[in-house]
Amino acid sequence: MPRARKLANLSPYIFAQLDERVYQLRQRGAMDIVDLGKADPDRPSPDPVVKRLQEADDFMTEVIEWCRKRDILLCYDNAYSEITYDGHRATSLLQYPGGREVGLEFISFSKTYNMAGWRLGAAVGHRDAIESLLVVQSHVDSGVFAPIQFAGATAVETVWQGSFPDEQRRIYQRRRDDALARFASIGWPVEKPAGTVYLWVPVPAGMTSETFARRLLDEYHVVVAPGTAFGPSGEGYVRLSLTTADDHIRKGVDRICAAIRAWHSPGSPVPPEPPQTNAAPRHEPVGTKPAGGA
Ligand SMILES: Cc1ncc(COP(=O)(O)O)c(C=O)c1O
Repeated sequence: MPRARKLANLSPYIFAQLDERVYQLRQRGAMDIVDLGKADPDRPSPDPVVKRLQEADDFMTEVIEWCRKRDILLCYDNAYSEITYDGHRATSLLQYPGGREVGLEFISFSKTYNMAGWRLGAAVGHRDAIESLLVVQSHVDSGVFAPIQFAGATAVETVWQGSFPDEQRRIYQRRRDDALARFASIGWPVEKPAGTVYLWVPVPAGMTSETFARRLLDEYHVVVAPGTAFGPSGEGYVRLSLTTADDHIRKGVDRICAAIRAWHSPGSPVPPEPPQTNAAPRHEPVGTKPAGGA
């Protein structure tokens, strides 16, 4: 009960920036369309996979320690744990020393097993927290429709043992690389994600996430999600998904590239900084980047 009382008084801490490198480029007004054929000494190509892994490891250790010291329950949303690229394997909270003691990890069947919309997930971790979750859940709804639960159990027990996971990763990676190559061909710096089914595409200078998304829909008939739909740190980006057929993604990305070419004018003012919602955070931040993928 004291824990529930504490939860009632929490305020979210929103992470500052999704992609520090692109943010810096935007601030410098340097995000012009460039000919990638010409080497740019200011833009070495770091190995984002390794970099992110290192950051994620430090980040998790720090978060676990931070929660342990304050008796805070850590709820780790690891929905994309199996959708990873280039041989990278996402880490689980339970792999870290102390992880099991401070928290819970949530996984989703939506992405891993292509069961989106079936509302099936699972939680693993701290025994007491799982028991509390079961009590809460039993009062919130009566549970997922039983056949869907059986389907999920079958997916875990059989489908996952075969070639399915690798095949899934291969398909998403192919789509990711194809889309990235198209953005690269116009010199648009889109970060290569180490996991997830999304790309975060910076918007042209002078536009907000929402205006870019709206105009893409109205003028180029492409649907993307404005980054701000996921919190204020998403300002300056739109999110596009790799969960449709390859040729649809290609067509959509080509239209987005055409829009960027039409709307991006080098030297135009960069968009304002994202609104600061954390002016007085209840707790000090523990890191600068979330673990995991995009
Ligand atoms: C990070 C993250 N967590 C959780 C979810 C929700 O997953 P589910 O479909 O199981 O409700 C999503 C869905 O897109 C997600 O992106």
